[in-house]
Amino acid sequence: MSSFKTLDDMGDLTGKRVLVREDLNVPMQDGKISDDTRLRATVQTISELSDRGAKVLVLAHFGRPKGERRDDMSLAPIAPALAKLLGRDVAFIADCQGGDAVAAVAALPNGAIAVLENTRFHAGEEKNDPALSAAMAALGDLYVNDAFSAAHRAHCSTEGLAHLLPAFAGRAMQAELEALEKALGKPEHPVAAVVGGAKVSTKLDVLKHLVARVDHLIIGGGMANTFLAARGVDVGKSLCEHDLKDVADAILDAADKAGCTVHLPYDVVVAKEFAANPPTRTINVHEVAADEMILDVGPAAVEALGDVLKTCKTLVWNGPMGAFEIPPFDFATVALARTAAALTAEGSLISVAGGGDTVAALNHAGAAADFTFVSTAGGAFLEWMEGRELPGVAALTA
Ligand code: 3PG
Repeated sequence: MSSFKTLDDMGDLTGKRVLVREDLNVPMQDGKISDDTRLRATVQTISELSDRGAKVLVLAHFGRPKGERRDDMSLAPIAPALAKLLGRDVAFIADCQGGDAVAAVAALPNGAIAVLENTRFHAGEEKNDPALSAAMAALGDLYVNDAFSAAHRAHCSTEGLAHLLPAFAGRAMQAELEALEKALGKPEHPVAAVVGGAKVSTKLDVLKHLVARVDHLIIGGGMANTFLAARGVDVGKSLCEHDLKDVADAILDAADKAGCTVHLPYDVVVAKEFAANPPTRTINVHEVAADEMILDVGPAAVEALGDVLKTCKTLVWNGPMGAFEIPPFDFATVALARTAAALTAEGSLISVAGGGDTVAALNHAGAAADFTFVSTAGGAFLEWMEGRELPGVAALTA
């Protein structure tokens, strides 16, 4: 990865208008923020810029309003939530471009913080429209991108602006990029990857990229069933993408050639229905009955996988090992996550995790705090695991 500039390179910021792209796309339930992880991730950059006397202008999207102004996707309610976390006042400006916004910014005192309205209320945002980028750039003197989790989008606020204003990585972006570099860029070997989740089809590119780079690929979740079936195991009525047999075979071949050991479960927990606490059996993977489905990795395999992690220096984790939302099928995810957390805490493992359900699974296991780094990103983390260049990152490193 080429290098990027950070807040350390910004010089004197007194009175400077700094446009800061954050990811304020937090999950909401009944009008309340149900998980404020992403808001907390913004605090360091925003506080530092404010302390240094900048006018901090937070740009972000919320939901997918597709170019329409929608009350239910306004960032107005996020400003007070951010103010609470920051312990400072946060103003709200009702547009991210245009004369009124320019005037509102001019009226802010040095060190003030303002959230600007949802960038996606403008159709040009997702098109990376140069005219919108220019209108946004007119609000600021400098640009900071602190939203790794939106960096897979080439939009005005994530990419276009970086070409119009001096561009820097915020502290959260910097931490993400440094952690990801340690995990897959230039990792200490042996490296293990845990890839779980329901479907192989959503992670084909991830698996193809990883087999050439890691020493151990641990496959869990529903996607393991597709690999087991490809190896001739009868998986009963388990979730399984039978049509991907050839793809699964090709991935296993590629792993073999690259010297990557693929670990599939050899004991599993099965049930006849997908419900909380149904009757279960813990069995050898070759004993699944026609009316049973595999819902978790079994305890013997989990122990063996823990032993694999003990031999590794680096771990990258994406996706749960079983149907972790429903007890008792959270066992393998929780046990392996706790092993990884303990190895990290004692200093023998660098562990980086991210993507969709992963953070929820690690939080559920009480393991997230001991991981070296847990990414706030969903789609961006997956694209990074696929080895793709993220436009928002590329624009900072150009
Ligand atoms: C996310 O929630 O993963 C990011 O905020 C990106 O959102 P998007 O998928 O709507 O671009």
